[in-house]
Amino acid sequence: MAKNVAVMIGSLRRESINRKLTAVLEKLAGDRLQFHELHIGDLPHYNDDLWDNIPEPVARFKDRLDHSDAVLAVTPEYNRGYPGVIKNAIDWGTRPYGQNSWARMPAAITGTSPGAVGTAVAQSRLRSDMLNAGCMVMAIPEAYIQWKPEIYAPDGSVEDEGTRKFLQGFVDAFVSWIDTRG
Ligand code: FNR
Repeated sequence: MAKNVAVMIGSLRRESINRKLTAVLEKLAGDRLQFHELHIGDLPHYNDDLWDNIPEPVARFKDRLDHSDAVLAVTPEYNRGYPGVIKNAIDWGTRPYGQNSWARMPAAITGTSPGAVGTAVAQSRLRSDMLNAGCMVMAIPEAYIQWKPEIYAPDGSVEDEGTRKFLQGFVDAFVSWIDTRG
């Protein structure tokens, strides 16, 4: 049966290349993984007071996490970091105190940018924070993707054979990671 994967996409813009990369990964996973987007852009800024009357996006987010086998983060790089919208989501996930939804959750991180380092710095910082939150983050293979539009077809297939194989390897490793840690 397919594993349920909660997906955090760190970009909110419509034409996001990270959203496109997510679609590519979903296709490569086939029927092994079922992706469920965590709509992290809908979450309010973290505020402890809001637990008194839980906002609907927070309730949905926590519920989705609590019914997921794993989490996948697909992040852009913003000023050599990862976007604040992801940090906000990490913080919501760790609370209320004693109900950390990230605890022992298998996780993988990837991301893409047009720049040569392909989000490596952002991913490194995100890895550290997700580990601190309690996620079991897959260490290898790393997947720092320099976005080149000509490599990807609009239907989410990968035109370039080398890239396709690399991304397939990443997805296959994530499936195994979930199977052994989940
Ligand atoms: C960027 N971009 C960027 N790229 C990069 O490789 N390293 C970086 O540090 C930054 N910094 C940065 C800051 C801010 C505020 C923005 C808006 C952008 C460029 C970024 O990679 C590019 O806009 C991608 O297209 C963003 O990903 P999405 O939104 O297409 O998924």
